[in-house]
Amino acid sequence: MFDLPVLNITETALHDNEQGSPVFDMLDMPNAPITRATRKLYVETYGCAMNVSDSEIVMGVMHKSGYVMTDKPDDADVILLNTCAIRDGAERKIHERLKHLKFYKRKRRDLVIGILGCMAERMRDELITEKQIVDLVVGPDEYRALPQLIAKAYEGEKGIAVKLSRVETYDDIVPLRTEGISAWISVSRGCDKFCTFCVVPFTRGRERSRSLQLIVDEAKQLWDSGFKEITLLGQNVNSYHDDASNQDFADLLARTARAVPQMRIRYSTSHPYDMSDKLIETMAEHDNVCKYVHLPVQSGSDRVLEAMNRHYTIAHYIERMQKIKDVMPQCALSTDIIVGFPTETEEEHQMTMALMQEVRYDGAFMFKYSPREKTKAWKMGDDVSEEVKTRRLSEIIEQQHQISHEINQTTIGTIERVLVEGLSRRDSTAWQGRTDSNKRTMFTHITNAGELNAEGKTAGYVVGDTVTVRIQRATSATLIGEIVLNS
Ligand code: SAH
Ligand code: SF4
Ligand code: F3S
Repeated sequence: MFDLPVLNITETALHDNEQGSPVFDMLDMPNAPITRATRKLYVETYGCAMNVSDSEIVMGVMHKSGYVMTDKPDDADVILLNTCAIRDGAERKIHERLKHLKFYKRKRRDLVIGILGCMAERMRDELITEKQIVDLVVGPDEYRALPQLIAKAYEGEKGIAVKLSRVETYDDIVPLRTEGISAWISVSRGCDKFCTFCVVPFTRGRERSRSLQLIVDEAKQLWDSGFKEITLLGQNVNSYHDDASNQDFADLLARTARAVPQMRIRYSTSHPYDMSDKLIETMAEHDNVCKYVHLPVQSGSDRVLEAMNRHYTIAHYIERMQKIKDVMPQCALSTDIIVGFPTETEEEHQMTMALMQEVRYDGAFMFKYSPREKTKAWKMGDDVSEEVKTRRLSEIIEQQHQISHEINQTTIGTIERVLVEGLSRRDSTAWQGRTDSNKRTMFTHITNAGELNAEGKTAGYVVGDTVTVRIQRATSATLIGEIVLNS
């Protein structure tokens, strides 16, 4: 989905799993004296977009207390890993990374290494007792305490702060965003849904919303400082509620869309249970709200959905999808699917395959079930064998590739408005960006000579421009075309 404009991102779960590229070397602090004591911070981010957004809050907190950022771990006085615990594989990556970090610690004995985020919250002091090199373990609601904890760590004192809060939203912290054109804005934190497979309610605590006015103000500031696209973030944005003004997520979306009418606006993630007509209609009413909905279904079987505590049936889900298509025929759809949930039968797997055929998603994020301690599903066992999970996963992936390919072929010959993100990573002679429907698009030529820019350059577009591209070819993941008009 998005290429993330933040340094040191290694995996995203809510969004795509691509590597983010470092976009700055060092952020200077204009108002702080650069002394020998100016310490350098390196942050590496794993997991979903919420974690990316949290790392910006962490950098904001640390910047305020005198740190500068570096993208080189060898340069750093403090290394923080902002971790994910969603599946076992996500945690295994962190264990591997810690093995490598031993090397830095051996070179620099005063180096401080901290584990933040969901794995910190899940494992707590286990991380300190098991991993000698870890000095700090800090959960998602305790980032304000980082400067003090790090100061103590310099004196050799290990620190743990993992209390979850019912109120912390970091509303007054200015996130330190790297330059770029896309920004994340967290609108809520935590999750109260308690899907039986999911660790998030345990690692991020109760759901709470940020102030609507502050979110709208943040969007305006981002526009003023050159951002062209924002994504409103929450584990379940549909349950956003601003108590002061009694406004819901659809109201927030409408207010934001009006406040920054030129900004592209996306949001993630919705829950099918409360995907309201009002939200769908609000999306349709505002041109600058992207016509793209990510609505995780998880399974095609009502029995499995009930065991997952998802609170909807397939009939309800399909009715919601139909409503979206009725109101916004061009809207792109994507989903998350888990295969091999405890007791999932072959027939139920086929129901998931059939649902995918019926909805015909533009894209999907597909996972093998991974048992997580503390969740209800943990107690159900893990009775679908690894072999069967692997086969079911490859079946849904293959089917999705086919569907994505077919849908993307229908874009050939159409004209798409693409927000330019930069040079393509795969082909340095091409540029890349995203369509309104969130499809990655590569493009090279300008065909309309009359539309050259003021300086007469042929490649008269820059990162952040919106260009008009005629699609000529398409794969299951990418559209390829040429610019026909620079807008
Ligand atoms: N809040 C979002 C999803 C957050 S996690 C939502 O509800 O849509 C992103 C995805 O990871 C989930 O949608 C689910 O498909 C997957 N996931 C979560 N826990 C998992 C587990 N234990 N095993 C496998 N996949 C899991
Ligand atoms: Fe996890 Fe369900 Fe909450 Fe999503 S809605 S974060 S899957 S508990
Ligand atoms: Fe996100 Fe992973 Fe936590 S998906 S909310 S960082 S468990």
